[in-house]
Amino acid sequence: MHPELSRFLPTLPGCLGHTGTTPNAPLHGLRVLIPGCGHAFEAGCFAALGAHVVALDFSAAAVAAAREVLTDWKGELVHGDFFTYAPNEGFDLIFERAFLCALPRHLWPDYARQTARLLKPGGIVAGFFFYGEEGKGPPFAAAPETLTQLLGAYFTRIDDQAVANPLPLFPGERWQVWQRGKTELAARLE
Ligand SMILES: C[S@@+](CC[C@H](N)C(=O)[O-])C[C@H]1O[C@@H](n2cnc3c(N)ncnc32)[C@H](O)[C@@H]1O
Repeated sequence: MHPELSRFLPTLPGCLGHTGTTPNAPLHGLRVLIPGCGHAFEAGCFAALGAHVVALDFSAAAVAAAREVLTDWKGELVHGDFFTYAPNEGFDLIFERAFLCALPRHLWPDYARQTARLLKPGGIVAGFFFYGEEGKGPPFAAAPETLTQLLGAYFTRIDDQAVANPLPLFPGERWQVWQRGKTELAARLE
């Protein structure tokens, strides 16, 4: 598991204001979404800690690849579009890994809005964000002020650190944790 993720996961219930977690399943009762999951390599980590995981991708090939990885698990693998995904229940955590930077920049405001919409009040989006000069892509790097503006409209950043072993393709990767406001954002999410 990525060191940043393994350090973060035990702190997640506390960030969400949960007390008295189950020692062997500290994420029991939490709902985790992995949008643009690709092979969904990280899905098993969350599920192994007791979370209910939804891994979603709009590519049939990605979903088939994820199915090969996710043998013997109880989560959901959804073949669908993140932007129109409308589950009955919100999520506690959305895990970001190479999804935002795969999207053309004109979709970024929709990404921020949909992420906020899919999270419960107080929910968290955490993961690896690709910083750099906003040149051609994909992957599409984000300048620091771009993400601050984009996600700051709905979230408060509660962690930000350089990634110990960034992927060669993502040299400016940073681990970040953003938390949605605890009140309903109905007006801003219309
Ligand atoms: C660069 S890959 C990252 C995969 C994975 N998260 C990883 O870290 O290896 C981006 C993924 O996002 C998926 N994707 C792009 N736009 C999407 C959308 N609107 N809805 C769902 N999946 C999408 C692509 O099919 C692709 O599998």
